[in-house]
Amino acid sequence: MKLSARLNHLFEHIMQFHQLSPYDDFWDLCCDHGFLGMTLFKNTQNSQIHLVDQVPKIVEILKQKYEKFNDGRALFKTQNATQIILNTNKRHLIVIAGVGGETAIEILESIINKNPKANMDFAISPNSHIFQLRCFLQKHFTLLHEDLIRDGNRFHEHIFVRFTFNQSKRISLTGQGFWQNSPYAKVYQAKLIKHYRLINSHNTNNDKYKMSKQALEYYSNLAL
Ligand SMILES: C[S@@+](CC[C@H](N)C(=O)[O-])C[C@H]1O[C@@H](n2cnc3c(N)ncnc32)[C@H](O)[C@@H]1O
Repeated sequence: MKLSARLNHLFEHIMQFHQLSPYDDFWDLCCDHGFLGMTLFKNTQNSQIHLVDQVPKIVEILKQKYEKFNDGRALFKTQNATQIILNTNKRHLIVIAGVGGETAIEILESIINKNPKANMDFAISPNSHIFQLRCFLQKHFTLLHEDLIRDGNRFHEHIFVRFTFNQSKRISLTGQGFWQNSPYAKVYQAKLIKHYRLINSHNTNNDKYKMSKQALEYYSNLAL
């Protein structure tokens, strides 16, 4: 199973964290094809892997496909990702990838409300609404790592966070570090400005307008 550049980047960083301090459970939420979850399954010995998608047919196909490899550690669940309940005696790594930023916020908000005492790290690779997502993350999470990834013509910010608030490791609204080191920084900045300008032009004086106006200011002021 060859992972895309995007999924491979998530996988490699998750494994680095796992080697430093092992996770008991990995959650591939919104798993669809399950590539990342099953790669984590193949590269770990003792951890439980939960593959979760809300579409029953997707989960049924995954179950059949991986039946012969499964030693009992892989669990396939048809569930809305917002509804997962975590064992508070375990250490969890939760992947939210390939969905929009607004869906990611909905899932994150529900998980932290339903599991306020859980020990959990998140690997997040949203398709959109990155600024809104960062505004949300800033209130509840601590930054572990972040990068800008190019996969074909698309760019993705990968944000690895821990559910604990630490003022000194607060998540920034535009991202740190990767702007100066990335060869795609200017192209990505231009894409973001174009995107938030468009949102801005379609909304007037509501929350979306305020958010996109703020995003525009932040992205335009990045000195690259
Ligand atoms: C584009 S795929 C992403 C697959 C994989 N995570 C990736 O990054 O390549 C999006 C999947 O998310 C699932 N999905 C969207 N919202 C969900 C939710 N709230 N709970 C569970 N699954 C969800 C969809 O059914 C779909 O299979």
